[in-house]
Order: sequence, then structure tokens, then C-alpha cells
Amino acid sequence: MKKRTIHCNEIRTAHIDQIVTLNGWVHSRRDLGGVLFIDIRDREGRTQTVFDPTDVPAALFDQAASLHSESVISVTGKVRHRPEGTNNSKIDTGEVEVMVESMEVLNAADVLPFPVDDPETASKVNEELRLKYRYLDLRRPEMIHNLRLRSKVATATRVFLDEMEFLEVETPTLFKSTPEGAREFLVPSRIHPSHFYALPQSPQQYKQILMVSGVEKYFQLARCYRDEDLRADRQPEFTQVDIEMSFIDREDIYALVEGMMGRIWKEALNVEIPSSFKRISFEEAMNTYGIDKPDTRFGLEIHDFSEAFKSSGFKVFSGTIQRGGVIKAINAKGLADVTQGQMESLTQLAINHGAKGLAYIKVENGEWKSPIVKFFSDEEKAALQKQLQMEDGDLILFAADQWLAACEVLGRIRLHCAELLQKRGKLTIDSKRFDFLWVIEFPLLSFDKEMNRWYSSHHPFTSPVEEDIEFLESDPKKVRGQHYDLVVNGVELGGGSIRIHQPELQRTIFEKVLQLPEDVIKARFGYMLEAFRYGCPPHGGIALGFDRLIAILCGTLSIRDVIAFPKTAKGTCLMTDSPGIADNRQLRDLHIQLRAPKKEQSE
Ligand code: AMO
Ligand code: AMP
Repeated sequence: MKKRTIHCNEIRTAHIDQIVTLNGWVHSRRDLGGVLFIDIRDREGRTQTVFDPTDVPAALFDQAASLHSESVISVTGKVRHRPEGTNNSKIDTGEVEVMVESMEVLNAADVLPFPVDDPETASKVNEELRLKYRYLDLRRPEMIHNLRLRSKVATATRVFLDEMEFLEVETPTLFKSTPEGAREFLVPSRIHPSHFYALPQSPQQYKQILMVSGVEKYFQLARCYRDEDLRADRQPEFTQVDIEMSFIDREDIYALVEGMMGRIWKEALNVEIPSSFKRISFEEAMNTYGIDKPDTRFGLEIHDFSEAFKSSGFKVFSGTIQRGGVIKAINAKGLADVTQGQMESLTQLAINHGAKGLAYIKVENGEWKSPIVKFFSDEEKAALQKQLQMEDGDLILFAADQWLAACEVLGRIRLHCAELLQKRGKLTIDSKRFDFLWVIEFPLLSFDKEMNRWYSSHHPFTSPVEEDIEFLESDPKKVRGQHYDLVVNGVELGGGSIRIHQPELQRTIFEKVLQLPEDVIKARFGYMLEAFRYGCPPHGGIALGFDRLIAILCGTLSIRDVIAFPKTAKGTCLMTDSPGIADNRQLRDLHIQLRAPKKEQSE
């Protein structure tokens, strides 16, 4: 094979008359009046090559003429100016072309299952087909762009953390069960019958142990595994920029991550972002946006009317307040023209999220149209008018429920209304804007009604806020955690906390608060509790979802677009056809006996 002397995006008029060799793929082919034009493409770009039957031997011409798109070739020829009027300003090499003298076909491609040369058609190919032929999909320039950006950001991250004196330490991916909430992938042990490793949900425990070891500043681009329901922003295996530091407090983590984001945004997009990010408490985020990862690029904020409606004649509202609940409302400005169908789907959305209904007011021609305003007093109406600044064209939507439920329902409704308003051209969300936000002061614990017990909102290693420790056993819901989430444009990009470094406090959390049985504590965390007794520095850290980070930088909603070989929403790989069936011998070696599938179904 003749090796390339120059890549396909490099040739300019300065190269005219030079003999060059290009290696790459047949991007497109055109036959114009007996002359054949082949655009050859490599990772960097493309160049037009010309096969003129008066210059090249007939056999070579015929071979070139019969090539399918995406065949791999090596061509050698002389660079020349494109003839007058045939320049292509869309590509960097648009002023020149290569007059082919010789060609070697390195791999003659069959007809492709879908075209990759035309971005318009390629982006319309269904995702299943693209995933089955992922290697073809990755040839599309947008996909190469995403992979490149990912590589660039990984490097920038490593360089930044290296400058900050962090050590990159690899931790095992054959681990054991962890308590982080998501279901795990188990790996059977051949040598130890009935024993299993688990793939780590994150390197949380190892990184804390590294602090006990005295590493002080650790990071890792760590692969994590969670067997959870998949969505556009969730994959069963994903990458975290995982960080842990000793002798620090929350402010140190904020400053580090703000600096790191600044560096990444500058290098990846050449965009300057604020040098410090806004902070908002969990409570305020829920009260104002109804979600703990608010998109603050638009308003549509939630207002509270519990005080105004506490003795309302509308019993749905006053009754809710008497039962300890709240009344919340948003003004979807300009959405009074919702269709019947859209109103029904908004109501259904509210009901799906646990609401009993979705009371509304439409403001049209100076009138409040609503089945419920007839129950409102003048004072109640005045309170609504004052806080919501109601005008013609507005749609007011209410939730009456317990605090968290009411906030969450309107949080969903807010996002849905924003979509409807965007479609109507009444709301523009700037996709080039990045609203970074720290969400802080999360409750340390949440209550599981079904199980009738408390569980850790983040994970059990999160340290309570110092002054709340005394309420751990007496009033757990009052205890705030030293936990922080990093949010960008409504995406939870990362989360972390200052950890517990005193074995007694950690034991209290496991034993008294989470009520884990002694044997479970010992089996799962015995080694950690012991390690904490031999000199454990105060420490804390964070993990950023690296795939989500790249997706934000690439402007895509799906992390599948920034992972070379992602799984489908059903957790399968269509290209390699995994997961697959294990043969009997493998199963025997692993001491595994499968249940008959029928039996499983009937259970
Ligand atoms: P957490 O569980 O919040 O924290 O995860 C940190 C970040 O990882 C990303 N992430 C995911 N990305 C893609 N697919 C998934 N299935 C997925 N799950 C999580 C998110 C999330 O914010 N050990 C702690 C961190 C710490 O306390 O330091 C942890 O894993 O962007
Ligand atoms: P009802 O009196 O139950 O017919 O409800 C009157 C209106 O209030 C309807 O539009 C319901 O959808 C709405 N509604 C009922 N319960 C709630 C609630 N908890 N929060 C908000 N709206 C509600």
C-alpha cells in the first residue's frame, strides 16, 4: 500500500503541481461527461480526485468507475487548481483537485445498508439501524466531531487536574455490592462457588479508602455500571470524572469544579463562563422550579398561595391546607390558547405524577375562564392577580397537595408548558447559553413510605451539616447533608459531598438511622469502618457525569450520541448482539444453573 503523504483536508493551492498520495474512503462519485470525480475522505476531511480517461489506463478507469461508496483506496496524483467556476466553497480543499495517476483498492465495499455521505439522509436513518452498523454511523462527520470533542475534553480534564496536583488512580471494576441505590450487575466467581463480584456503581468506597491511604487528591475517568431503567441521559455503563480530596470543605470543591468547567468550556467551545456559579438550596429549587435540577434559562416560576387560600370557599384548596398541604401555581404566559387535547395531556401529566387534578384559569378578553373561580373570594383573586401579574392570554395552573408533591407536579408542568410555548414561538431558550448552578442543602435522608424507613438521599457516606447532627435520631427529616449537585441547563451534571470521616458517626448512620442489621454493616462496610479507625482525614469529593458533560458541549440531548458504542434503551448492543446466551460449559464452570424460562414466566 502506498502510504498517505498528506491528509484529505490539508491540500491547498500552495500544493499545486505536487504529487500527493491520499488514503481514505470513497465518499462520493460523479460521472460528468465521461470524466470521473471521486471525493476521497479521511478522518480530517475530503478532497476531490479526477479520473480522466485520456490520462489514466482504461483498466484503472473501469476499476474506479465500478467502486461502491465507502470502498477504501489509496490514490496518487498531481494537485491542480479546479477549473474556473467549479470551486466548492463548502469544503476546505474546495479550490483544488488531484489528477489521479494511480490507484490501489484496499477494500472494495459492498452496497451500504444506509448512506453516510449525505448528512440530511444519514441523520434521518432510524437509530436502531445506525446502532447495528455503528461503525458506519461513526463515519458521519457529526459523530467524528463528538468523539474528537470527547477526547479533547478528557485530555483537558486530565491536564487541569494534573496541574492541581491530583493523582489519577485506577480502582477495580470487579467489586462487590454497594449501597448506592441502583441495581447492580453481578459477576459470578468461578473459583468461589455461589460468590459474586459486582461491577461498581461508582468508585465511591475505593476513593474514600484512598484518602485514608494518604493520596490526598485523587481523580479518575472511571467507568461505572448501573442496571437501571435507561433514558436518553442514562446508560448502563457510563463514565464519571471522579474526584476526592482530603482536608477540604465544600468551598474547595466548588472552586475546583468551577475552575475545571471554565477550562473545559474555553478549550472545547472557546466560551467564557462565570468564574463562580450561583447557589440555590434544594428547598428554594423545589419552591421556585419544582425540581432539584432546574433549567433557569427561562422563568415560568412557581408561586405559593397557601396563605391566600387557607380559608377558601374552594374546598379542594382549603381542605389540602388543613391537611398540612400547600397551594402552588404557575403562570404559563401566553398559553391560554391551549387546545382541549393539550389541556387534557397537561392534566394527565399531573395525574401521572400523583396529582388529583389540575385546576386552571385562562385569561381571555379580560375574563378569567375557569370552573373554579366562582368559589374564589375577591381577596383570593387579588392575591393571584398581584403575584402572577395575570394578563390576557395567560394560563394559570394550580397544584394542591403536600409540599413536595405539589412542587414536583408543577415542576413537570412547567417543563411541558415551556415546550408548548417554544412550539408557539412564544418562548425562546437560548441553546448557546449555559446556566451553571450549585444545588445545595439537600435533606440528608428521605423517607421510604413502602419500606417505612429512612434512606440516604445521596449515599450513606455523606456528612450531615454539623449543627444538624443532634437531630439525626430524634428528627431525621430536619438534617441537611453536606451534599451538592452541579446542574447545567436542567441537567444534573454531577453530585458529591463532604464525607463522614469519624467511624462512630458513620456507624450511627448505618445502625440507628438507616437501621441496617449488624451482619449487613459488617459484610458491606466493616473494612471501611475499620479503616476509619486508623487515621482518616476529613475528606469529600464529587463525580461529574462525563457523558452528560460531552452531550451538553455537543448540544445533543442523548448521551448515546457521544458514546462510541452505546446500548439501546433496552440495554442491548445491536452491533455485537449482546447480552448473549452462555453455553452449558461456561455455566457449569460458574456453578450456575438456569431456571427453565417457562417456569420463570408463570411466576
Ligand atoms: P451520582 O450517583 O450522583 O454520584 O453520580 C454522579 C454523576 O454521574 C452521572 N450518572 C450517569 N450518567 C450516565 N448514565 C447513568 N446511568 C448515570 N448515573 C449517574 C450523573 C451524576 O450526576 N459516588 C457518587 C459521587 C460522589 O459522592 O462523589 C456518585 O456516583 O451526571
Ligand atoms: P373537583 O372539585 O374535584 O371537580 O375539581 C375542580 C378542579 O380542580 C378540576 O379542574 C380539578 O382538575 C382540579 N383539582 C382537583 N384536585 C386538585 C388538586 N389537588 N390540585 C390541583 N387541582 C385540583
